[in-house]
Amino acid sequence: MDPWNFQTKDGRNLTIRPVRPDDAQDLYEAARHPDVARMILLHPALELAATEDYINSEEAGRHYLVAEVGGRAVGSVTLNHVQRPRLHHMGRIGLMVGREHWDQGIGGFLMKAALEIADNWLDLKRVELDVFTENHAAVHLYEKFGFEVEGRRRRVAFGNGRWLDNFLMARLRIPRSPIPQSPIPQPPSPPIPQSPVSSPPIIRPPHPDDAEDLHDFYRHPLVARTTLQMPSMEITLSRNRMQQRPPGLYRFVAEMDGRVIGSISLHQAQNPAERHAAGLGMGVHPDYWGQGVGNGLLVAILDLADNWLNIARVELDVNVDNVAGVNLYLKHDFEIEGTRRFHAYGDGRWADSYFMARLRK
Ligand SMILES: CC(C)(COP(=O)(O)OP(=O)(O)OC[C@H]1O[C@@H](n2cnc3c(N)ncnc32)[C@H](O)[C@@H]1OP(=O)(O)O)[C@@H](O)C(=O)NCCC(=O)NCCS
Repeated sequence: MDPWNFQTKDGRNLTIRPVRPDDAQDLYEAARHPDVARMILLHPALELAATEDYINSEEAGRHYLVAEVGGRAVGSVTLNHVQRPRLHHMGRIGLMVGREHWDQGIGGFLMKAALEIADNWLDLKRVELDVFTENHAAVHLYEKFGFEVEGRRRRVAFGNGRWLDNFLMARLRIPRSPIPQSPIPQPPSPPIPQSPVSSPPIIRPPHPDDAEDLHDFYRHPLVARTTLQMPSMEITLSRNRMQQRPPGLYRFVAEMDGRVIGSISLHQAQNPAERHAAGLGMGVHPDYWGQGVGNGLLVAILDLADNWLNIARVELDVNVDNVAGVNLYLKHDFEIEGTRRFHAYGDGRWADSYFMARLRK
């Protein structure tokens, strides 16, 4: 990419270019200013080495640009192109400008450059970001670039001595011709229990031997459709997932008739500002839908969240057309906080998703 040259409102030359390792000191100082740090939730004990590590890490899909004025990096933008196959149309933006350079148009130039990459080099359909509800300058800037608020996420972070809400904002770029939907989208089939339930499922932690059963139902089209999985998923992926235990991951499976027919996981955030929150994902084999298995898994994981992990916010995404899922979550005190438009593609259709959360009373 050729350098992009602009002028700030007070007439200084500005260049937007990819980040370099020797920008670390400038970006660290800019981010540590209390007015900046509180809007991007960097705590005061952040060390220069953490900024260096971040710049030097090679993250697939990351596009990291800086604004240079007078030979120094004064602001940055990251555009993270989501790499999961069903979300590959999507990017996420993070933005920061040093305190003494605000209101000079620099945030706008950085946004322009990031969106140039998103639109004209990656052809992204959906670019999203989150912004604290009290960050009026940033919300104003994003609205100018066509971002719309899709919902408000409550108590999403803790920093500077208090709880914060954020807005999920997104800018969609839909092709001029309608996105082909093929074949005609079908809602999931209603559950047809294959055999009457004799006894409730056994809910227990998973074992590596469960990988085959989990693979069997997560790649079932009716489950893959609503869980971001693929029917082409290979057994090695399921085995690796069972073997790996990343920090903050907790899970249960449901066993019936000697076979694992459902699973649920809770992933506690590791960032100190978000450690009170955890993301939830679950699935039940279609042969066992409508028999209380999902309910049993949810009761178990919410007991773990409330009474063992002290988690205050459990959050999830659920496709809007997944009526059974939405109703199950509503029954367990989750509330709809907003709608993520064009969230995922799969099973021949684009799906919007509700983002839902349950705050512990
Ligand atoms: C948000 C941020 C990136 C903006 O950078 P910037 O270089 O000042 O942005 P610009 O000068 O291009 O534009 C700022 C706009 O906000 C407006 N603005 C400033 N203060 C405002 C306020 N309190 N309420 C509403 N709008 C405000 C400005 O008038 C300008 O709009 P205009 O061009 O229509 O006049 C910068 O404030 C920042 O780094 N803040 C801390 C980190 C942060 O919040 N990052 C975003 C996290 S989601």
